[in-house]
Amino acid sequence: MKILVSGGLGYIGSHTVVELLNRNQEVVIIDNLYNSQEETHQKVKSITSKDSLFINIDATNFDGLMSLNEKHSFDAIIHFAGYKAVGESVAKPLMYYHNNLLSTINLARFANECNIPRFIFSSSATVYGEGVSPFNEEMPLLKTTNPYGETKAMNERILIDAAKANKNFNVTLLRYFNPVGAHRSGLIGEVPNGVPNNLMPYVTQVAKGKREKLFVYGNDYDTVDGTGLRDYIHVVDLAKGHVQTLESKQEGINIYNLGTGKGTSVLELVHAFEKENKIEIPYEIVDRRPGDIAVSYADVSKAKKELNWEAKLTIEDMVRDAWNFEKNIK
Ligand code: WQD
Repeated sequence: MKILVSGGLGYIGSHTVVELLNRNQEVVIIDNLYNSQEETHQKVKSITSKDSLFINIDATNFDGLMSLNEKHSFDAIIHFAGYKAVGESVAKPLMYYHNNLLSTINLARFANECNIPRFIFSSSATVYGEGVSPFNEEMPLLKTTNPYGETKAMNERILIDAAKANKNFNVTLLRYFNPVGAHRSGLIGEVPNGVPNNLMPYVTQVAKGKREKLFVYGNDYDTVDGTGLRDYIHVVDLAKGHVQTLESKQEGINIYNLGTGKGTSVLELVHAFEKENKIEIPYEIVDRRPGDIAVSYADVSKAKKELNWEAKLTIEDMVRDAWNFEKNIK
């Protein structure tokens, strides 16, 4: 099959392209390089020994997307392109609504105008809002706590309505929990812009000496050690979930959690990192971060049953691979 991957040079996108190429799919990547590097394209080829096509197109440019139709006929779109920093979304909401919603609307319009039958969307557990874990796909969605999360929830509704209006437009929403880690080669991984918002890249930068210490946002939550609990999933498991989704040829509208179903606290992750990599991570407990929820982890039974997919890599794999990648960053 020929797959269009938007944001295919980004963190999750590039790992998914690797798995698609490993399954002998034909891949066209579009990316505007806002939060990715062009050299990642060559690194994907180094890992897979397979070619893919990269075109620098911004998904908010509809004419740019339609130009693809001159040379390509796609069997599916996997849509990763989008801004994803929670804090930045609070400071710049209009930038987030414009980019994240228009890129999705354009790609869905492109799919409908060019008869592309399958659309897989990079959604997020954040759409569950301040609900109670384990989150399952049938739960009503509560308001999220930031504009980034709102764009994910709004994009889900936009795509659902588009699928309802066109029975030949099959939509699958994949709700990621907390993607971490990197390909075992150490060639691709997460390269945050500026100060990392997320826990794992901050920990790896402390390990590297780029940051003095980790600030732990609160230890007074109702969890095993008082720190926030999340469902961390290895990015390679996540990428394979996209391939399973594509190959399962889901019809209609489908929604799946992609997580491990297990919760890990901030300090449990830190201690796992220290033990696996034999590096001390100094930290300081500080106030809670506004907008954080205490506990978030997935009910993963639906993806296991319907996609024949489950996460296989462990927290030890995640902290080892994350550090292995960080060590390679210049
Ligand atoms: C995890 C835990 C923090 C940093 C968000 C989005 C989600 C996805 C991933 C984009 C929490 C604690 C963190 C730090 C800390 N989006 N923490 N010190 O907030 O669960 O999810 O990012 O990729 O859609 O909602 O992830 O890694 O920011 O936080 O103590 O320096 O680590 O309080 O408990 P989060 P996170």
